[in-house]
Amino acid sequence: MTDRLIIFDTTLRDGEQSPGAAMTREQKLRIAKQLERLRVDVIEAGFAAASNGDFEAVRAIANTIKDSIVCSLARANDKDISRAAEALQNARAKRIHTFIATSPLHMEKKLRMTPEQVLEQAKLAVRFARRFADDVEFSPEDGSRSELDFLCRVLEAVIKEGARTINIADTVGYAVPHQYGELIRTLRERIPNSDKAIWSVHCHNDLGMAVANSLAGVLAGARQVECTINGLGERAGNTALEEVVMAVKTRRDVFGLDVRIDTTQIVPTSKLVSNITGFPVQPNKAVVGANAFAHASGIHQDGVLKERQTYEIMRAEDVGWTANKIVLGKLSGRNAFKQRVQELGIPIESEEELNAAFAKFKELADRKAEIFDEDIQALFSDEEVTLHQEYFKLVSLAQRSATGEPPHARVVLKINGREVVSESVGNGPVDASLKAIEREVKSGSELLLYSVNAITTGTESQGEVTVRLGRAGRIVNGVGSDLDIVAASAKAYLNALNKLYTTTERINPQTSTP
Ligand code: KIV
Ligand code: ZN
Repeated sequence: MTDRLIIFDTTLRDGEQSPGAAMTREQKLRIAKQLERLRVDVIEAGFAAASNGDFEAVRAIANTIKDSIVCSLARANDKDISRAAEALQNARAKRIHTFIATSPLHMEKKLRMTPEQVLEQAKLAVRFARRFADDVEFSPEDGSRSELDFLCRVLEAVIKEGARTINIADTVGYAVPHQYGELIRTLRERIPNSDKAIWSVHCHNDLGMAVANSLAGVLAGARQVECTINGLGERAGNTALEEVVMAVKTRRDVFGLDVRIDTTQIVPTSKLVSNITGFPVQPNKAVVGANAFAHASGIHQDGVLKERQTYEIMRAEDVGWTANKIVLGKLSGRNAFKQRVQELGIPIESEEELNAAFAKFKELADRKAEIFDEDIQALFSDEEVTLHQEYFKLVSLAQRSATGEPPHARVVLKINGREVVSESVGNGPVDASLKAIEREVKSGSELLLYSVNAITTGTESQGEVTVRLGRAGRIVNGVGSDLDIVAASAKAYLNALNKLYTTTERINPQTSTP
């Protein structure tokens, strides 16, 4: 058995299935490049058959990534598999991941198929996928609630057809660690050709046990973990990549396994994914939360100063935390800016992008004396910098609020290049500003979530606002940052509207039948 654990990242596929987390092709490509820098073994780039946009995103990632295997999900049918194969055509290393549900509940109620039909379709799917790729993965969806004998029959058959990775999905996060570990062990022992495949774990976090279940699977012989950055994913999310990697590295005495990951890229990747998707990271989140290390929580400071190991089992710098440094100011030139951007590992796509970011930096530096690394990172998640196109754009905002007076906002917007002015009163300055925007745009969307976080510390910090909008069953997240949190709110709202009007309808691979 290999002593290496394969890290399969599915942020761009399972993570993106989380309502509101939909990303553009450019954003996915940006995350894929960062995942390559993080040195994940496999990047599940998407579900190519979901829409033309998803297909193009998988293709762009397959054409670009050189150092990780690029994978596309496909339901167990020829059409999905052909689409995945086409999108992956130019990948240096590719994988087709096909799946079908095997639990009695899913087979009967969702697929409306008999177990024999499911077995046949699984075999055909793997056989067909092998026409396009040597590297084929098969997942029994809802595997953890499937009947053991039937699961063994299906898995033995698909390994015979050439599936090289078998991924046991705990689709609804129902498993508990000892049981899930036992399942992996039993499957490996009972299936005669089990040694021909790498066993993989794929756990959801509905009961808060995704990481624990995955690690139980690893102890039982699984050698691939499927996971997402920050545990992003539908409902309570997926297994968090950063937690699995740091558990395996920190407790090598228990797991005895190596991972290829460059752990110093963990925090930059976490920030990028959070900025792009608009899913903030909770402060007490393991590894990537702002309070995750003792030096930040204050209470153990004394012990840490005397001997850091008293309260620290990992070093903050090993996972990519940098000290809050004043890095640049208003006199810093383009070269100093470019150098710091490179040191932070932010990929610069073009001179045009660098120039746009530098212009934003100068604007910010005029208003804020000290620019921190986090401010620079936030600049690069600004869509104006990365996409150069926004349908709705904030030109300026003025708001007035005083005790005893109704707050009033006046916003100047560009809508597809045309400038418009709108005014409104509201319950507070943020409410007035968003109402003024809505009065002009008339999106009819519902505000599902509004949250503000400080990007750095102190009252000088930029505020980062996330808004979630829902309309006709679609959900999008928008993010905006500014020294003025009312302006940050307006930017976040417009960012969400841009997504609402541009992202297209797509199929969810799991809730739609093959
Ligand atoms: O959770 C799940 O069952 C999945 C499969 C498609 C692997 O994501
Ligand atoms: Zn899943």
